[in-house]
Amino acid sequence: MAIVREIEKRRAYRAYSTETVDKETLVRLAEAAHMAPSSANNQPWRIVTVVDQKQLDRLKETLSGGNYWAKKAPAIAAFVTDARWSMRLANRDYAFFELGMAAMAYQVQAVSEGLVVHPMAGFNVDEAKNVLGIAEDMTLEILMAVGKPGDIEALNEKHRESEQGPRQRKPLDQIMSFDVWHERLAPPVKS
Ligand SMILES: Cc1cc2nc3c(=O)[nH]c(=O)nc-3n(C[C@H](O)[C@H](O)[C@H](O)COP(=O)(O)O)c2cc1C
Repeated sequence: MAIVREIEKRRAYRAYSTETVDKETLVRLAEAAHMAPSSANNQPWRIVTVVDQKQLDRLKETLSGGNYWAKKAPAIAAFVTDARWSMRLANRDYAFFELGMAAMAYQVQAVSEGLVVHPMAGFNVDEAKNVLGIAEDMTLEILMAVGKPGDIEALNEKHRESEQGPRQRKPLDQIMSFDVWHERLAPPVKS
């Protein structure tokens, strides 16, 4: 048995075409996200998909410099939640976990549709919320660039290399064990 094709194929690629993605497809991606599990079926994910050119330009202004490549993307989906919208147990706010699961389902669906999807934390959150009309006390967790694959020539050298290079991952024995916690799972202490 192999890893599911779309999971294996997904990479945070940066080469986008400016060609638009039809709204029907973008709705289907949100529909896939909406199939994620959530505690008590709270469904705390909200997705605002920006395709209107004026809105898109304003939202792209909020991106950090390193995310220059996302300026070509024809759609950006904002993933929003609020700790109050789902289960809270001691210091565990499940809304964020559930939003993450929804975001992964969204990406898997996008890959299966031949699209490129790339989550971004690098943006000015206050400005982005202002553009999108999202209330201050809600959490705009990520922006997801969505589009069709494009030309890698538009990327800087570092990004061109990472686009074509192998996936970077810790060895599996550093992230999983059977039966009990193992010391090898602890990340090295940063000095
Ligand atoms: C929450 C989150 C935020 C991220 N923010 C950015 C970002 O602002 N800019 C960027 O270029 N990549 C961003 N990434 C992409 C990661 O760098 C990428 O997923 C990671 O290097 C692993 O590469 P892979 O997804 O191709 O396997 C983000 C990913 C996640 C999950």
